[in-house]
Amino acid sequence: MKARTFGNTGVDVSEVGLGTWQLGGGDWGPIDDATSLQTLEAATEAGVTFFDTADIYGGGDSERRIGKFLAKRSDRDRLLIATKFGRASDPGGAANLEYDVMKRHMAGSCKRLGVEQLWLVQGHCLDHDALRSGAVFENLRRLQSEGLIAHFGMSVQSVDEALTCLEQDGLTSLQVIFNVFRQKLIAELFERAQQKNVALIVRLPLASGLLSGKFTRDSRFADTDHRNYNRDGAAFNVGETFAGVPFEAALQLVEELRDEVPSGVSMAAWALRYCLDFPAVTTVIPGARSAEQARGNAGASELEPLSSSAHARLRQFYEQRVVRHIRGAY
Ligand SMILES: NC(=O)c1ccc[n+]([C@@H]2O[C@H](COP(=O)([O-])OP(=O)(O)OC[C@H]3O[C@@H](n4cnc5c(N)ncnc54)[C@H](OP(=O)(O)O)[C@@H]3O)[C@@H](O)[C@H]2O)c1
Repeated sequence: MKARTFGNTGVDVSEVGLGTWQLGGGDWGPIDDATSLQTLEAATEAGVTFFDTADIYGGGDSERRIGKFLAKRSDRDRLLIATKFGRASDPGGAANLEYDVMKRHMAGSCKRLGVEQLWLVQGHCLDHDALRSGAVFENLRRLQSEGLIAHFGMSVQSVDEALTCLEQDGLTSLQVIFNVFRQKLIAELFERAQQKNVALIVRLPLASGLLSGKFTRDSRFADTDHRNYNRDGAAFNVGETFAGVPFEAALQLVEELRDEVPSGVSMAAWALRYCLDFPAVTTVIPGARSAEQARGNAGASELEPLSSSAHARLRQFYEQRVVRHIRGAY
């Protein structure tokens, strides 16, 4: 597993991380403790050192399971956990960004993770107005100086929000949606982030699993899986589900990509490799629901980069075939 330096921290993280929204159960259908722990174990054994979670995933279960996992590891100090704040329901809304509330929510994350300091906290898709006002960043700098958090970043939905955040002192990372279907960031964000030495964490690198190539028209998702109830954005930003591409259209687009995948390589690993080919990307955080998926995804780090002609074809594919389908903040 290759590593990349995480923005201004000077710390190296695995270039393939693990997204753990799935390990809360909640929005991905049920998952048990044992499967969650096996997934974390397999990722770690494959060299993953960077894990993304949030205070609200599974009502705290994702953080709790990571905490349980860390408690058993003698090498826990090298495993870096990035969590999020800002979307919990108590009190909810704008009040979540008041200093005392942020501190209480982060103390809750510390407790569930079993740590005294959070290595990285990220605002969880906050309103653009809240980002523009800057008050949340003041609170983050204060919490950092008080030692509750080591570093802070923002998880954002659009390029404009990312650019707003890049103006803030002390910002360590941005978490963004980037994959073969979502290429806008290459021209509009990557260079700016690199100039500011801000780490880029790539979420939905598999477009919620579409870019594994395993779905068909007959694929069914649990009632509680967002790929069922949020496929058209009924519950939250449509971009967080299938990267904002309508499911039926996306199935056709995936078929058109199959010839790009070298023989002997899984489509999922190829799709992750695509993201890793951009030096502005610090780490990709594919979500996994099994040890096998976590292991397979980690293997993307060992693949050869895609050729420049493959990248050129994928750029054309995006412009001519994909971009018109993308919905939601972008
Ligand atoms: N607002 C935010 O800040 C935000 C929003 C979304 C996600 N995230 C973070 O980003 C992470 C990644 O995004 P995501 O999980 O939404 O999307 P993703 O990584 O694009 O897709 C994850 C899904 O892809 C499938 N998959 C993964 N590895 C596979 C493999 N090797 N072979 C076949 N299928 C595979 C699994 O689907 P099945 O479940 O069908 O097996 C898995 O649930 C999340 O876990 C979370 O930590 C943050």
